Amino acid sequence: MKQLANKHILLCVTGGIAAYKAAEIIRLFKTSGANIRVLMTEAAQEFITPLTMQALSGNQVHTDLLDTKAEAAMGHIELAKWSDIILIAPCSANSIARLASGKGDDLMTAVCLAAVCKIYFAPAMNQAMWSDSRTQENFKKLINNNFISIGPDSGEQACGDEGFGRMSEPQQIINQIASSFSQGLLAGKKILITAGPTREKIDPVRYISNRSSGKMGFSIAEAARDAGGLVSIISGPVSLETPNEVDRINVESADEMLKEVDKAINNFDLFISTAAVSDFKPEEYENQKIKKQKKGNNLNLELTKNQDILKSVSENKGDLKVIGFAAETQNIIENAKKKLKEKNLDLIIANDVSDDSIGFDSDENEVYLITKKIEKKISKVSKKKLSRNIIEFIAENL
Ligand SMILES: Cc1cc2nc3c(=O)[nH]c(=O)nc-3n(C[C@H](O)[C@H](O)[C@H](O)COP(=O)(O)O)c2cc1C
Repeated sequence: MKQLANKHILLCVTGGIAAYKAAEIIRLFKTSGANIRVLMTEAAQEFITPLTMQALSGNQVHTDLLDTKAEAAMGHIELAKWSDIILIAPCSANSIARLASGKGDDLMTAVCLAAVCKIYFAPAMNQAMWSDSRTQENFKKLINNNFISIGPDSGEQACGDEGFGRMSEPQQIINQIASSFSQGLLAGKKILITAGPTREKIDPVRYISNRSSGKMGFSIAEAARDAGGLVSIISGPVSLETPNEVDRINVESADEMLKEVDKAINNFDLFISTAAVSDFKPEEYENQKIKKQKKGNNLNLELTKNQDILKSVSENKGDLKVIGFAAETQNIIENAKKKLKEKNLDLIIANDVSDDSIGFDSDENEVYLITKKIEKKISKVSKKKLSRNIIEFIAENL
């Protein structure tokens, strides 16, 4: 994970049964090239020894606020200044409460008060402790004070209980922190995204459409925004909230979408077409509702092709990078490669829409990222995670 290389990470370990997992967190950070220092609360040292943490991190472990030796080398202010990111993992209910109260009477709380960097925390506790209203209140206070929570997850607990409170897995914690360093990958880039389905009107009450929910496009918009991009969405009819700081234009039909894309496209660096644009529309629009009686048993609709928005953008693209999605049901890679070439795209993202557990309306997806030179599979993940991966891929390869 090259985003973490040479980054200064301060890992604060508190007193919980998941403290042993901090050893794995250190290992993962080290493998990613991060420079890691460890701070342990007094209780944490009962669960895992500072010696282990020192050996794994390669640095002296920080334990005391009022230690004259440590103060000379790196006091709480210096430690706070040194950190690019602070991670508290595991974070006990007690530490959540003390941090929420604004206390600064031990090294960890004092460092967190002095820190200006992002502070992540991974709550880890018994499910009853987690659901206790005081813990919940303290947790919310931390979130309101810009602490970023990772987890907790639900599952089997060390005490034999089952439920929320389990610390997120070390790899998941590292991934979330790495993605925060991806921010800025598209700094200042202007990105236009189409999303959702289109509706092709038959008469005033009927239309042809498809199952696209718009989730993929909106999720990519969020990831592009988080990477520093200036993002606009042109969206077909979907029931999704507009992400903060993203411009949105609503359209219904493929013709309207094309018109809006044409109007806007010259101002953008990147065009990402996630919309499921109807390939066809009714040849004629009936001004009045088609009556059941009027047409006998059969109703024949004459369809005509819509203009291909993606192709029309890429025909005159100049410096614009153009990215398309290919929703396929068979020969996915082969068909996607054909589309990449035919439509003169910089990247095509292909997925198998015959699998109901991914793609349309699902929260997960599995895709192939294909350029002229690269072919990369991203196995089934949440659309949120996938979007971050796609944005990283675009920033690194296009
Ligand atoms: C065996 C044992 C396991 C514990 N596990 C947890 C835990 O998983 N989460 C938690 O919040 N507290 C746990 N506690 C309680 C904390 O250790 C205790 O609240 C301590 O004061 C936390 O101090 P700290 O937040 O300063 O590290 C446990 C206590 C014991 C004795």
